[in-house]
Amino acid sequence: MIEVRDLSITMKGKHITHHVEFTIARGKITSLIGESGSGKSMTVSAVLGMLPTDAKVSGSVMYEGRNLLDISDQEMESVKKQDIFTIFQDASNSFNPSVKMRHQLYAFSGKRVGDTLQVFDEKMLSILDKLGLSWEVVEHYPFQLSGGMLQRCMIACAFYVEPALLIADEPTSALDMVLQKEFIEWLIRLNEERGTTILLITHDLDIVAEAAHEMAVMQQGSIVETGKVETVFSNPRHAYTKRLLESRF
Ligand SMILES: Nc1ncnc2c1ncn2[C@@H]1O[C@H](COP(=O)(O)OP(=O)(O)OP(=O)(O)O)[C@@H](O)[C@H]1O
Ligand SMILES: [Mg+2]
Repeated sequence: MIEVRDLSITMKGKHITHHVEFTIARGKITSLIGESGSGKSMTVSAVLGMLPTDAKVSGSVMYEGRNLLDISDQEMESVKKQDIFTIFQDASNSFNPSVKMRHQLYAFSGKRVGDTLQVFDEKMLSILDKLGLSWEVVEHYPFQLSGGMLQRCMIACAFYVEPALLIADEPTSALDMVLQKEFIEWLIRLNEERGTTILLITHDLDIVAEAAHEMAVMQQGSIVETGKVETVFSNPRHAYTKRLLESRF
């Protein structure tokens, strides 16, 4: 679905990523894994056309015959609006603190797909219910909800929008173990029930093992290994992947 080829990012003369190559396969969950600072979030920013203005980028991000690095800002906005939903590392930053959740969730989901607020209320009610959230969350301001609830609100929007591609950047880092597990289960459900293609960024191999079909391992700005999760886990080829797997137990 997305082919990242030879993606290099530099900022202020510093190489952030070098010749990054990986594929996000349609209908699959692909995990991008690597240590902190290895360039995972910057890679995602490049895919979404959201790099800082002083970043220089080369290579290509092919999506449905178009190189997302070459298209206009307007085209990029339309691709994102139509096809891509992103859950950022810290969900609380995605919300405006002074607006109640109903209007924010509507903007992220119902409005995006052209539903009226009334249609949104009905549809969101059933999704929130499915995710174990009461309708009351929509009457609150973001700061009145926990990090876990905000994450769940974001995944509720993903269920609503049914994007062709969901990008989730370390979605579980703010959650306790029980909520982490649930969050991953919802991602798996979204993939299985709606066929949503997912790029899941994490540094947790247990999450990769549980959720992902394909994986790409990143170290210091480079992809050092890619493949099916079972294959990489049973037969890691790169020394860094071997070290990661050995440190797991
Ligand atoms: N705005 C910025 N200006 C300059 N350098 C940056 C900026 N943002 C990130 N970097 C650098 O880019 C590199 C990659 O950062 P990135 O945030 O992509 O890592 P990451 O793999 O997502 O890490 P983490 O697991 O901690 O989220 C790091 O060396 C970081 O210092
Ligand atoms: Mg990151």
